[in-house]
Amino acid sequence: MTHTETPTNTAAPTLVLGSSGKIGSRVARALDARGVPVRLGGRRGEPPFDWQDRATWPAALDGVRSVFLLYAPDLGTTDSVADIAAFTERAAAAGVERIVQLSARLPDEGRTATEGLMADAEAAVRKAGPDWTILRAGWFFQNFDEGFLSAYVRAGTLALPTAEGREFFVDAGDIAEVAAVALTEGGHAGRTYELTGARGLTFGEAVAEIASAADRRMDYLPLAEEEFGAALTAEGFPAETVALVGDLLRRIRLGGLDHGTDDVRTVLGRAPRDFADFAKDASANGSWRA
Ligand SMILES: NC(=O)c1ccc[n+]([C@@H]2O[C@H](COP(=O)([O-])OP(=O)(O)OC[C@H]3O[C@@H](n4cnc5c(N)ncnc54)[C@H](OP(=O)(O)O)[C@@H]3O)[C@@H](O)[C@H]2O)c1
Repeated sequence: MTHTETPTNTAAPTLVLGSSGKIGSRVARALDARGVPVRLGGRRGEPPFDWQDRATWPAALDGVRSVFLLYAPDLGTTDSVADIAAFTERAAAAGVERIVQLSARLPDEGRTATEGLMADAEAAVRKAGPDWTILRAGWFFQNFDEGFLSAYVRAGTLALPTAEGREFFVDAGDIAEVAAVALTEGGHAGRTYELTGARGLTFGEAVAEIASAADRRMDYLPLAEEEFGAALTAEGFPAETVALVGDLLRRIRLGGLDHGTDDVRTVLGRAPRDFADFAKDASANGSWRA
């Protein structure tokens, strides 16, 4: 895609929320590489930003022209819609011109409760006033080595209720590159991108690719949803998290989003990173050493 519109004011800092996490850290690096000043948004930032403490928001937004909006702990949690509506209203009042929001892929119909919350959170961004771009991302590759699945994978058994459902996992670096483009170039306002990798994989196939790259035995164990929920509860996860993760994994099991898109290529002009390359590089870095 050719970008011909005038870039936004890149002299003012871009507030990157979730800047110490999987996506935000890569967005901050991608912007830095473009020479764009970044304000790191997070509870340990200077100034700090806390979704749960609105008194921290004005200082974090002061002088900012663009925001990478990542909701933590998850866009599908109950407070996300009200928090994002209030935040984007304040962002608009503070002079923010552009918001790029990280969201997740959503089916058009038959949405789960979690997907309904995500859709409402997107709607709050669309109506806030600043230019918006929504990035609906598939499951991140990095869930397997940096995120909540990593401990199970490292231990050698990933037990999930996804059966033979396929997910088009996507690289966090590709998401971040798309975010950096949407934050700094023209032509992306009012767009909703669906960011996927090029290949759909079952969790069993993903674990097999990781095992092969790591050169060790790893197993995928199919569970019933109730068994999985009981296991998470026994590990001490709160009921809201159990319901949220159950919803997300049910979507994969039941299909509905088991197709890829060209949006990474459309924005970046190249193919998305392949899962096998991710597995090889993460293995070489020792991510899954037992
Ligand atoms: N995982 C997936 O496959 C997937 C797919 C699509 C969309 N998503 C969405 O991606 C988002 C998570 O992104 P991620 O995986 O990159 O995050 P992450 O690695 O889990 O990191 C969370 C980030 O949020 C910050 N944070 C946590 N609590 C906060 C609070 N109360 N106020 C302000 N910042 C807070 C953390 O920094 P501090 O602790 O320093 O504050 C950290 O930088 C969620 O909105 C989720 O819905 C995830």
